[in-house]
Amino acid sequence: MSKIRAAITGVGGHVPDYILSNKELEKLVETSDDWIMTRTGIKERRLLKGEGKGTSHMMEIAIKELLTKTNTNPLDVDMVVSCTTTPDFVFPATGNLVCDMCGLKNAFSYDLNAACSGFLFGLVTGSQFIETGKYKKVIVVGGDKMSSIINYSDRTTCIIFGDGAAAVMLEPNTEGYGIIDSILRTDGSGALYLGQKAGGSRRPASIETVTNKEHYAYQEGATVFKHAVSNMSQVSVELLERNNLTANDLNWLVPHQANKRIIEATSERLKIGEEKVLMNISRYGNTTNGTIPLLLWDYEKNFKKGDNIIMAAFGGGFTWGSIYLKWAYEPK
Ligand code: UT7
Repeated sequence: MSKIRAAITGVGGHVPDYILSNKELEKLVETSDDWIMTRTGIKERRLLKGEGKGTSHMMEIAIKELLTKTNTNPLDVDMVVSCTTTPDFVFPATGNLVCDMCGLKNAFSYDLNAACSGFLFGLVTGSQFIETGKYKKVIVVGGDKMSSIINYSDRTTCIIFGDGAAAVMLEPNTEGYGIIDSILRTDGSGALYLGQKAGGSRRPASIETVTNKEHYAYQEGATVFKHAVSNMSQVSVELLERNNLTANDLNWLVPHQANKRIIEATSERLKIGEEKVLMNISRYGNTTNGTIPLLLWDYEKNFKKGDNIIMAAFGGGFTWGSIYLKWAYEPK
């Protein structure tokens, strides 16, 4: 029998209704629609409103859509990898809550936190369970309620981030489709430039940390920008080379949506034509763990069985990586 690969067999997604436009942000901080569009390519982002709603709320809707689209009995799901940087609670895991909300009674689950690269780390993690042959249906869901850790008086972060979630089903494939190869990397020294300073065990929440606004995302944008372009393109080029692929062999680049200029610089280094580079950053901003699966959700109808896809991401911590996969189905 040929090698078992983990293939994506369906996608579900959700973005909240509330739209925070650049015009609205102009009322909150010293910025302009023109600055935000020119420097980031973001026009608007979605925010989850409503008391008591966390990341799990968006994941629940995305997974329920996925179950419907793939005609899956919730009791047949073996595992959920829940990729998030804004879990509902420190514990229990958001994945556990989502399984309960979606009736996935036979699945085990856990959260995975690799910031903006989380969905790629989750896909590789989930694919290992499929490749053993023991697990048949693994859901990888990526989502964040970034608005819960954003300071809407800090113009360097509040213009970028948004809320959203999307999920994919992984199933075994022995016909050569699915995840073929991947490179994942971390560098903890990058924690200085992008992260959340308090709220964990090193600096637990206190009146002082709250007063100092240390529970919000902190970013040194220009430093992160440079690392994002060089590291995302480096691993993607390495992945192409070791799989004997050129840019011409690729059908789609699915890049993390942090900044349109990062995406353009990365695709130029990979020599991939802009018509092959997927983007929805103008509508959703940076949804952290949500960006890559939300792209799959938005563009699913454009994919054809056998398409060569490279995914690439960079995130806080630092984390980065790239995945090469062959799309496994013709969308209905
Ligand atoms: O997904 C996780 C990884 N995150 C990323 O990949 C984000 C990477 N970084 C970025 O996308 C960009 O660095 C930002 C969008 C965050 C900032 O853009 P930039 O072109 O790097 O701007 P900058 O930080 O170098 O700031 C340039 C100027 C500064 O003013 P001065 O010092 O030149 O007078 C900033 O104070 O722009 C100013 N500025 C703003 N002006 C209007 C910073 N933010 C804003 C703003 N509106 N929102």
